[in-house]
Amino acid sequence: MALRLEPGTRLVVATHNPGKVKELAEILEGRFELVTAGELGLPEPDETETTFVGNALLKARHAAEASGLVALADDSGLSVTALDGAPGIHSARWAGPSKDFSLAMRKVEERLEEAGSEDVSAWFTSALAVAWPGGPAVVVEGRIDGTLVFPPRGDRGFGYDPIFVPEGMDQTFGELEPAVKDGMSHRARAFAKLKAALL
Ligand code: IMP
Repeated sequence: MALRLEPGTRLVVATHNPGKVKELAEILEGRFELVTAGELGLPEPDETETTFVGNALLKARHAAEASGLVALADDSGLSVTALDGAPGIHSARWAGPSKDFSLAMRKVEERLEEAGSEDVSAWFTSALAVAWPGGPAVVVEGRIDGTLVFPPRGDRGFGYDPIFVPEGMDQTFGELEPAVKDGMSHRARAFAKLKAALL
């Protein structure tokens, strides 16, 4: 059975991050009625899985069961080749409780120095999952490769953007026009796959 999302479907977005909801709303182009897990007062589950896909599915299933609505969830992060994929699913946690990404970026730089590797390649991953209450789920993954630069450059974007230069570019995600980043990012690539699968 092909899974389809009909226009106007009420979708719960399983994120408590207003920035992400805004980004999702823009990408979904007003096709759906979006409510957030925060607005519905749904608790946030612990992200106990070991992969981006696993955690996106876990969050979508949890929100679908708790709300009785179709749920959309994402999980994303930065993976560094020389660090065996770290910080990976721990990307948000490396910034500590105060969500300090200068700290997280310094940690990446220090770990790379400790590893003594010349390899500065890295990639961002975005997993997106849609789950139906009591029913099936669909999950897709998008990725963008690039290289890391230190010190961080640019104050656009968020998270690890200032140290990431995407393939084919000279500027970091923190320096590039947001529209350029949004057109090529891991999240855009995951959304293209999700649209192809569901719309
Ligand atoms: P999540 O909310 O558990 O998916 O955490 C993802 C973390 O990965 C965020 O806190 C960011 O630090 C990082 N991350 C994900 N996508 C991006 C991006 O596009 N730019 C910079 N950092 C990102």
